[in-house]
Amino acid sequence: MPTLEHSAPTRNLALELVRVTEAAALSAGRFMGRGDKEAADQAAVNAMRIVLQTVDMNGIIVIGEGEKDNAPMLYNGEIVGNGSEPDVDVAVDPIDGTRPLAFGRSNSLATVAIAPRGTMFDPGPFVYMNKLAVGPEAKGKINIEKSITENLRAIAKAKGKSIEDLTAIILDRDRNNEMVKEIREAGARLRQIPDGDVGAALMTAWPDSGVDVLFGIGGTPEGVIAACALRAMGGEIQGKLYARDKNELQRGIEAGFNFNKVLTMDDLVSSEDVFFAATGITDGELLQGVRYFGDGASTDSIVVRGLTGTVRQINATHRMDKLHYLNEEIY
Ligand code: FBP
Repeated sequence: MPTLEHSAPTRNLALELVRVTEAAALSAGRFMGRGDKEAADQAAVNAMRIVLQTVDMNGIIVIGEGEKDNAPMLYNGEIVGNGSEPDVDVAVDPIDGTRPLAFGRSNSLATVAIAPRGTMFDPGPFVYMNKLAVGPEAKGKINIEKSITENLRAIAKAKGKSIEDLTAIILDRDRNNEMVKEIREAGARLRQIPDGDVGAALMTAWPDSGVDVLFGIGGTPEGVIAACALRAMGGEIQGKLYARDKNELQRGIEAGFNFNKVLTMDDLVSSEDVFFAATGITDGELLQGVRYFGDGASTDSIVVRGLTGTVRQINATHRMDKLHYLNEEIY
């Protein structure tokens, strides 16, 4: 019999984290379709920063965002939380899908993840990573060193389907064209998405999403956040840093990064004790976007906890007049 000490539930920080992504979504959602990426990002970052300070943790931002496109950001190395235990690494993507939000398109999300201090991969300034992600059924069967066809074959076998039944998802970018060609030649169905590969990675582990595997080169911060989510949801992601040119490669090598190394799930986040939260900003396939009404707004979120593997969907109604922590300017 497990002792009470071992079986007693511990605190689920993801339930606090969801307030962080809700705040970011509520603030950024006001900018839907306004064509102003910067303003939307700034609103999300401001709101996230305010609510992060209330979370019971001693956090350090390991994965911030903005270096790629000079967007407003929560800085790497920034201390967040109210300073109490636990000591954690924090990864934020205040808006995954800034462009879709700015132009009123679907699938933009606010996301945050935490893990024990020192357990998250720090990619430094290297913004792109090749990714291969799957849900629980194909966990342990993928290998980013092998060809796309071999991976599709392994995933199909693990899921008891044929390759033709599989749906792959990939960011629609020129740098991914070769992979698109190979996916097509292998015979799998393919979705090329304009943005949002955190959400796409989540879909591989989401029952009935209709997506089996994520391929392709996308953001490195997004890769670490997706690793936290997939680790908690029982899926798997592998990555490899990608240099855009010889200069970047050279800088990386000089800084001690190995662009040939396969970044396994353990490299990307080495602890099972991860928490992840995401809130929809615009309507998406996983989450509904923010709805505003006269005196409030509603949000749709998921929170995931690695130790237990619990995935919660949280639909919240917020009263504007009671949201003291979000001032009018950012809300
Ligand atoms: P942001 O909205 O945070 O800029 O990210 C959107 C996104 O599509 C990510 O999901 C993806 O990893 C990254 O951009 C790809 O980068 P790029 O647009 O430079 O190809």
